[in-house]
Amino acid sequence: EPKTIGQRGAFIVIEGLDRAGKTTQVKRLCDKLYSQGHNIKTLRFPDRTSPIGKMIDSYLQSQTEMDDHVIHLLFSANRWEKAKWMEETLKKGCTIVCDRYYHSGMVYSAAKHNPNLSLDWARAPDVGLPKPDAVIFLDLEPEEAEKRGGYGDEKYEKKEMQQRVRELFYTFESDMKVVNAGESLEIVGDHILEKIEETLKDVLEGRSRVGKF
Ligand code: TMP
Repeated sequence: EPKTIGQRGAFIVIEGLDRAGKTTQVKRLCDKLYSQGHNIKTLRFPDRTSPIGKMIDSYLQSQTEMDDHVIHLLFSANRWEKAKWMEETLKKGCTIVCDRYYHSGMVYSAAKHNPNLSLDWARAPDVGLPKPDAVIFLDLEPEEAEKRGGYGDEKYEKKEMQQRVRELFYTFESDMKVVNAGESLEIVGDHILEKIEETLKDVLEGRSRVGKF
């Protein structure tokens, strides 16, 4: 018997640094919640499948150059493309687990240190998007990230950039539940479950509405 019948679903976001194991944890969390009887949909940003997503993908792979503001607005537009679907899905009683969302949007752009692209500027285009019920931040020490085999080839996967991103994520500490991603898969997974337990209960028992950023 699905637990979410008659109630809205919960909106859970997993944020974190590159190499923190977000994708694995999103999968584990979905499997776990599904086994508990939740209706689940997953989402990841950037969603590289749409026309805007393809432009983002090309930028991240250094195949196209773009002004910092332009790529920022594309990342935001890529979230807005899904906004209506997200609202409808939650309303139908489906829980959404999402790999990255507007916190990534703000901090990666602001980490570029472009004097014309402040954190405030970066925030504006995302204002009004559906607000997550819980944001987990998978935090990883830079040394630990390096032990995991270093970063890949994409645009932002450089040590200094990742360090600035980490500092900027911490300016949103009060919005997020920090989980140390340096532990084993199982322990990280258990910590995530613990941190969202209250939120899930509130949502599923009808005590909380979908907010807006
Ligand atoms: P991914 O590795 O999770 O697919 O994300 C690709 C990169 O895009 C990652 O370095 C984070 C970055 N990013 C932004 O710069 N802005 C955004 O809004 C999002 C969602 C991701």
